[in-house]
Amino acid sequence: MPHAQQFEPEEFAPAPARSRRSWDPVVKITHWSIVTAIIANALITEEGSGAHIWVGYALAAVFALRLLWGLIGPAEARFSAFPPSLRRAVGHLRDIRVGRKEIHRSHNPLGALMVYAIWCVLGLIIASGIAMAGPPSGALPGSADQAGEVSRHLVAEQDDDEEEDEVKGAEGSESMWEEVHETSVNLLYILIALHIAGTVFETRRSGREILLAMLPGRA
Ligand code: HEM
Ligand code: HEM
Repeated sequence: MPHAQQFEPEEFAPAPARSRRSWDPVVKITHWSIVTAIIANALITEEGSGAHIWVGYALAAVFALRLLWGLIGPAEARFSAFPPSLRRAVGHLRDIRVGRKEIHRSHNPLGALMVYAIWCVLGLIIASGIAMAGPPSGALPGSADQAGEVSRHLVAEQDDDEEEDEVKGAEGSESMWEEVHETSVNLLYILIALHIAGTVFETRRSGREILLAMLPGRA
């Protein structure tokens, strides 16, 4: 496939015109939608509320779209354009140290590791969130029905003494998912800080192209 060759991850492209990075609309829209959903669930919605869970499902859908795009999207958006490779990442660090600028049409090898790390942690957050919340109930965010659904899963209050053991088991797995959710959210915050620092660093090193390519209005 001629395209795949054009976007080899370690490609060198001395001509400035070829160095221009560009992301298709799906990559841009999924990036900024994921950012918006994370900000909403981290700062705006109440933890475990109907709104939090619905934002969570929207996040899961957008994330699934991006993963699908990694298989069927344009060359630079595909997983094959930015394979996770420690060897390449070390090579990239060496390039930075000696001031060598290699051109990458997709994520650079260090950025690729960060992208996969963010995606893995997002996967954990979504899986643990869904494990606690259950499948969508069809009720509107914040409605009594939805709240009831959530509290049924989260609090698992049971009056019946005979079911006490079962409830203890449910609470045990709940708190496990709660733990996974909370820990991975904290890990995500660290990765986001590193990602933004990396973007700023790379923008200073290689030019504003890096940032502009992810903003709207650039084909
Ligand atoms: C990246 C986006 C998300 C962020 C930043 C986030 C953040 C949080 C935080 C900080 C908590 C409190 C954890 C604790 O102290 O126990 C929480 C709880 C919860 N989250 Fe998320 N969350 C996100 C995505 C999701 C998703 C995708 C779902 C499900 C679809 C979800 C469902 C829940 C539920 C049900 C709780 C309640 C757990 C409890 O009551 O302890 N969250 N979330
Ligand atoms: C919640 C915060 C954020 C998360 C979770 C996040 C996550 C990601 C992910 C997963 C990618 C890979 C995109 C893909 O291939 O689909 C990416 C790329 C990118 N992000 Fe973010 N991002 C966040 C915030 C930001 C912010 C605030 C900026 C602007 C300073 C930014 C700038 C970029 C840029 C420029 C790229 C492309 C990097 C490259 O060319 O290799 N991100 N981000």
